[in-house]
Amino acid sequence: MSFEEFIQREWQDYCQVTPLALKVHDLLTSQGEIVMNDHIAIRTLAHPNLGLEAFESFLVGFGYKPCQEYFFEDKRLKAIHFEAKDKPLIFVSEFMYEDDKFSDFVTSTMESIIESCDGLNLDQLFLKRKVWMPSYAIYEKLLKESEYAAWFYAWGFRSNHFTISANKLKKFSTIEQMNTFLKSHKIALNSFGGEVKGTEQQGLVQSSTMADQYSLEFLEGMYTIPSCYYEFAKRYELDGAIYTGFVPTSADKIFESTNRN
Ligand code: NI
Repeated sequence: MSFEEFIQREWQDYCQVTPLALKVHDLLTSQGEIVMNDHIAIRTLAHPNLGLEAFESFLVGFGYKPCQEYFFEDKRLKAIHFEAKDKPLIFVSEFMYEDDKFSDFVTSTMESIIESCDGLNLDQLFLKRKVWMPSYAIYEKLLKESEYAAWFYAWGFRSNHFTISANKLKKFSTIEQMNTFLKSHKIALNSFGGEVKGTEQQGLVQSSTMADQYSLEFLEGMYTIPSCYYEFAKRYELDGAIYTGFVPTSADKIFESTNRN
């Protein structure tokens, strides 16, 4: 599978569960814009077969190299952003499910996911998305301790969000202008920590929609839960070059776009 095939399949799947993203994409193209991705983001578990190490081998195959590492203390996540020439950045985070902060219930649920993935590589897991059938009762119980764990349990291996590069847009030179445009089309923005995350001095200014809602099959039947969201990023020069990293305090709030309100 080539990178182009991978990203095309991810985009189609993402649009299917996030019709809101397709709507925003079409609104921008109808304004004459060419929509380019700044980055895509993926969630996973901190396990040798599924975590950052495994993603490094997977993404190196597409020409990517690991760049900067991040840690999210409160959510117990580690992350790395990967870069490749002329390709969108990829931000992969992993959930530290064995951390003392979480109950045995969280740890053993994540262990059962890991067990069901046994013998499958990331290539195969991205094709299947999920090799377990989630229970809505377990999903709700996970939500009480970690929204991240609950989202991963419900959705599996897929892109959590795509991000439009505002640097590549002609009519929207700032994230504030982008937000005004989206709100004029009645699109709900993530306002955790303010609608605009980050500053020009940090090199990266971001905003995002709240996650779309999607009716998903669980063991007990169909339930509507948050799916994915669309993000917007504008990058600025730091020390003479466009900043390509991420800002942890901003990313921490962007994660909350999949919160259930
Ligand atoms: Ni992002």
